Amino acid sequence: MALKLKTRRSVSAPSSAPRQFKAIILNSVFSDWSQDDTILSEECLTRMKRGLGIVGIEATVVQVKRDIAGPLKKFDPREYVVFNWAEGIDGEPNAYDKVPPVLEELGFAHTGSDAWALAASADKAFTKKLLLENRIPTPVSKTYERAALNGWRRYPALVKPATEHCSFGITRDAVVDSPQQLKERIQYVLDTWKCPALVEDFIDGQEFNVSVWGNGESAQVLPISMMDYSAFPDYHDRLCTFDAKWNPDSEAYRLTAVQCPALLDKTLKRRIERVALATYKALKIRDYGRVDMRVRNNVPYVLDVNANPDITMEGGFARSCRAAGFDYGQSIAKILTFAAERMPAL
Ligand SMILES: Nc1ncnc2c1ncn2[C@@H]1O[C@H](COP(=O)(O)OP(=O)(O)O)[C@@H](O)[C@H]1O
Ligand SMILES: [Mg+2]
Repeated sequence: MALKLKTRRSVSAPSSAPRQFKAIILNSVFSDWSQDDTILSEECLTRMKRGLGIVGIEATVVQVKRDIAGPLKKFDPREYVVFNWAEGIDGEPNAYDKVPPVLEELGFAHTGSDAWALAASADKAFTKKLLLENRIPTPVSKTYERAALNGWRRYPALVKPATEHCSFGITRDAVVDSPQQLKERIQYVLDTWKCPALVEDFIDGQEFNVSVWGNGESAQVLPISMMDYSAFPDYHDRLCTFDAKWNPDSEAYRLTAVQCPALLDKTLKRRIERVALATYKALKIRDYGRVDMRVRNNVPYVLDVNANPDITMEGGFARSCRAAGFDYGQSIAKILTFAAERMPAL
């Protein structure tokens, strides 16, 4: 996990006047995309570019497959900041961490976390280890590389792939109530997702998406979103599944109400904010991120840390920005401004 990065020496510009920059929106393209995937990606890029245009930032879209450096060579890192929207590289969809070292080698300041934080947060078992070391509450768990139960006794339990995202593998069958179901579900994760299975205490409580942006002491929690599952009488369905996140035609999407800003009492709100900031710091997240939690008996438990959360206009991060008074273009510009502080000297 200890990734050593080669970085060029860079000196920040004096902080008195904000540094002027143009933006490159760096986006990955995958050979196995359907036509719909391509159309959706183009639409998201157009919206980001348009949003930046409205706030006066000139943006160029650069799409990459496996070669990231080649298409960027003609741009000057003293003039451009890269918005890193590359979701891995062609043929390696989860290799988010392979992109920042290339950008750093070329001398570009880029948005978002470095390779270490991207890799750390993509590995849920490693993330939980860091959380516990930092005394941040997270559900009791065990990681399985084969379907042997080793005395797991907490039911219901939630079984998820340890290195996936987008709620892959999270369906009502992921909530198990007996050793037999647990064994079967671990085997399913091993066979289907080709990674270890993470078994967690199932927290049947309200769920919160907590978006954070900024760096160091200035990192700030944006208005909190709460997912309300009260329309689902059976706890096996009280989950943020793939459909609930992205399929507006699904029942899961229609019945999961999202409240942002969440109406919370002051003490719980402060507790959630404190846990989110501690998590952001422990995972060394930079510029923007999102921490997913569930609350039981007033304790916020961290379920998932997203160092590169969905940043589309419809995503949860943009929703929290809107609730804070930033439209889409302003939000993306703000994230670029955080990164611009790392631009090489003129
Ligand atoms: N321990 C848990 N208890 C209850 N629900 C959980 C638990 N872990 C995950 N979930 C549910 O599954 C969803 C997806 O899990 P998460 O760990 O966030 O994975 P992903 O990286 O795929 O988003 C969560 O948003 C939540 O609804
Ligand atoms: Mg999540």
